[in-house]
Amino acid sequence: MLEARAAVRTLPTYHPPLGGRDGLRLDFNENTVGCSPRVLARLRELTAEDLARYPEREPIEAVVAGHFGIEPRELLLTNGVDEAIHLLCETFLEPGDEVLIVVPTFAMYEISAAATGAQVIAVPAGENFRFPTSGLLSRVTPRTRLIAVANPNNPTGAVAEPADLLEIARRAPQAAILVDEAYFEFYGQTVLLQFRNLPNLFVARTFSKAYGMAGFRIGVLVGDAAQMAMVRRVSSPYNVNGVALACLPTALADDNYIQQYVEKVREGRVQLQDEFSNCGIPFWPSEANFVLARFGPLKSAFVQGMRVRGILVRDRSRDYGCDGCVRITIGTTQHTSRLLAALREVLEEIGATEARAQ
Ligand SMILES: Cc1ncc(COP(=O)(O)O)c(C=O)c1O
Repeated sequence: MLEARAAVRTLPTYHPPLGGRDGLRLDFNENTVGCSPRVLARLRELTAEDLARYPEREPIEAVVAGHFGIEPRELLLTNGVDEAIHLLCETFLEPGDEVLIVVPTFAMYEISAAATGAQVIAVPAGENFRFPTSGLLSRVTPRTRLIAVANPNNPTGAVAEPADLLEIARRAPQAAILVDEAYFEFYGQTVLLQFRNLPNLFVARTFSKAYGMAGFRIGVLVGDAAQMAMVRRVSSPYNVNGVALACLPTALADDNYIQQYVEKVREGRVQLQDEFSNCGIPFWPSEANFVLARFGPLKSAFVQGMRVRGILVRDRSRDYGCDGCVRITIGTTQHTSRLLAALREVLEEIGATEARAQ
């Protein structure tokens, strides 16, 4: 029996509950209706010849660079943000280096960092999941080589001020600062162009969320050209598949589709948060396409009640500070109406409304 490296043997496992996801998918922060119809049309145009070729990333990187207003050498297309995280860890971390994350947060920072043998230090978010700027700065040491922040954060929907993120990048010049903007479209604020002033800053974006392309597996990492050249060394030349590459320019061109979808999500976010307020369910105001709410001991009954009604929501109670919490993705107007109707029924059924009245 082969023995895996010690860092791998002790890795925390991450098994997203993907099995049997029939129903309204409000559990993975995906787009609830899928990609633009123009993307689907482009997909259908692909031929056997197209699929026979090794994928060419560079021409599509030029298109994406144009979209962001940067140079192609300042970005790398990746197999989702998951791969961007992995590549950053492989490029910059040595065993024993320190990595700072803010918890609760997206699981892959810890997994990719710990797999290199680096020591992951979890800094707890502040009250109400506030971004712990001073807590994070107080843990920076000469060994800190990566600080990963999701902005907006998953699963809380909380955000860090751009000025705070830039301050952290300035105060830890020996560390790569990853700002993961997977939910950027629902928030609108970015530090994407700041790598020009701060060469240790990297920004990741994904096409898995607002763009409805999670199944394509495509994301992008942006940063200083010299640093990106190092990251590119670690990457396989064919890390992004040809189907995703062929469809991406069409997805970027259909800006209207994204804007309309995001507008619906933002409306739904207000509606859901208002509903939680009215029902007395504690929740955290979100800047992403999901809301985290606390159901306490009724959490499992709530998740089950929604499932019975064909709606999948995500139990996040095992995340740091999230005891009794469920995360609910927001989709189109129609999906929000369906969500709210089911929510009212389930809260009534499990006695959440009575518990509040007492
Ligand atoms: C903060 C954050 N980053 C990255 C990802 C994964 O993105 P991708 O599908 O591009 O790998 C997720 C998915 O849930 C996420 O919440």
